[in-house]
Amino acid sequence: YGLRVLDPAFVNTAMITSSITYIDGNKGFLMHRGYPIEQLAEKSNFLETAYLLIYGELPSKSQYKVWSWEIMNHTFVAEDLQAMIRQMRYDSHPMSVFISAFAAMSAFAPEANPALQGQDMYINDKSIMNKQIVRILGKATTVAAMAYRIRINRRFTPPRSDLSYTENLLYMMDHMAEPYSYRPDPRLAKALDILFILHADHEMNCSTSTMVHVGSSLVDPYSCIAAAASALYGPLHGGANEAVIRMLTRIGSVENVPAFLEGVKQKKELLFGFGHRVYRETDPRSKVIREVADMVFEVCGREPLIDIAIALKDAALKDEYFTSRKLYPNVDYWSGLIYKAMGFPLDFYPVLFVVPRVAGYLAHWKQQLDSGKNKISRPRQVYVGKSRRDYVPIDQRE
Ligand code: CMC
Repeated sequence: YGLRVLDPAFVNTAMITSSITYIDGNKGFLMHRGYPIEQLAEKSNFLETAYLLIYGELPSKSQYKVWSWEIMNHTFVAEDLQAMIRQMRYDSHPMSVFISAFAAMSAFAPEANPALQGQDMYINDKSIMNKQIVRILGKATTVAAMAYRIRINRRFTPPRSDLSYTENLLYMMDHMAEPYSYRPDPRLAKALDILFILHADHEMNCSTSTMVHVGSSLVDPYSCIAAAASALYGPLHGGANEAVIRMLTRIGSVENVPAFLEGVKQKKELLFGFGHRVYRETDPRSKVIREVADMVFEVCGREPLIDIAIALKDAALKDEYFTSRKLYPNVDYWSGLIYKAMGFPLDFYPVLFVVPRVAGYLAHWKQQLDSGKNKISRPRQVYVGKSRRDYVPIDQRE
């Protein structure tokens, strides 16, 4: 069957060349388009960082004005799509709603579908590509807010395009707000904006590589986003922030930390929020996020689970099991605590991860199509099944 290099879970295989994001896992270093993540988190904002990821340079003042205006004016979602989303059960996982809404958006955007418009449409006409980018970034927040409103059994709040990206998301979500009168606390909108910068891209993680993989078939970008978001939904990826809170709640108190760690070492369970395929050092995002946690606790009050989280982290970092395997806290270790302090329901946390990650998905989708070298992703396998044999009709089987 020919020689194959077997690389389960792509531990050693690079699938693309990229100029978007660089990670040095041994040094705990992350940069986008050359800019260190710490600088972007401190000085940029999410929409500017999204522009940087997608177009390669920081926008000029006028570019930024047009970019943010376009995105905020594409936050409206078609009435028919809203009606479809409204049909979902109140206890649907918000990620299922988000994924379904993006899959359905493909049906609402036939003009964006290469199957209908010609397979080279995104290569021949960049304005069509740019249009989908602002539409997707705009609608991601609205769909996320709708998923939340379904979860709490409330009607949808229309977007406000005069607010900032995260301010508008919080505005659309707030279940205590009187429509049109409430503006979220600017400190929380700022904290969420920093979290969005930290989550915007992380090179070939499971969901972004799914975006590239699915995009390579030249399907429309809405279907690609639905596929990528499905990959992010899992507890080993974007669902980890939710899993961390479930884990800390189960641990219950600082006294129970040693017994819990014993169970992890016996491989009965995972220490969620620890470990990373690339980082063999502390995830640099987790350092910034720790500061954001304090910002949020100042407004919302200190989240009591933080004490267990700190005790668990300190104990794990002193334990040979974790240090020898180079397991350190990742971004999800702290993000759930912030979302909990902000009062979001547990199953909404992965949505707060996927919305900003859409920027990274789009950057990679564009990079792939713009390269002029798109080739359908098609990994090989090493067959270990039966040799050739003949079919036995059912009446001759036992
Ligand atoms: N708790 C306990 N043991 C662990 C953990 C953990 N969180 N992560 C890895 N290990 C062990 C693993 O069992 C293995 O042990 P051994 O050598 O005895 O077989 C060793 O460490 C090496 O781990 P690995 O399975 O080869 O690591 P991986 O690169 O395949 O997996 C990971 C990376 C992130 C899936 C994994 O570390 C994990 O499951 N972490 C918990 C889930 C989590 O926090 N995910 C969020 C990742 S960051 C954000 C994102 O990308 O979504």
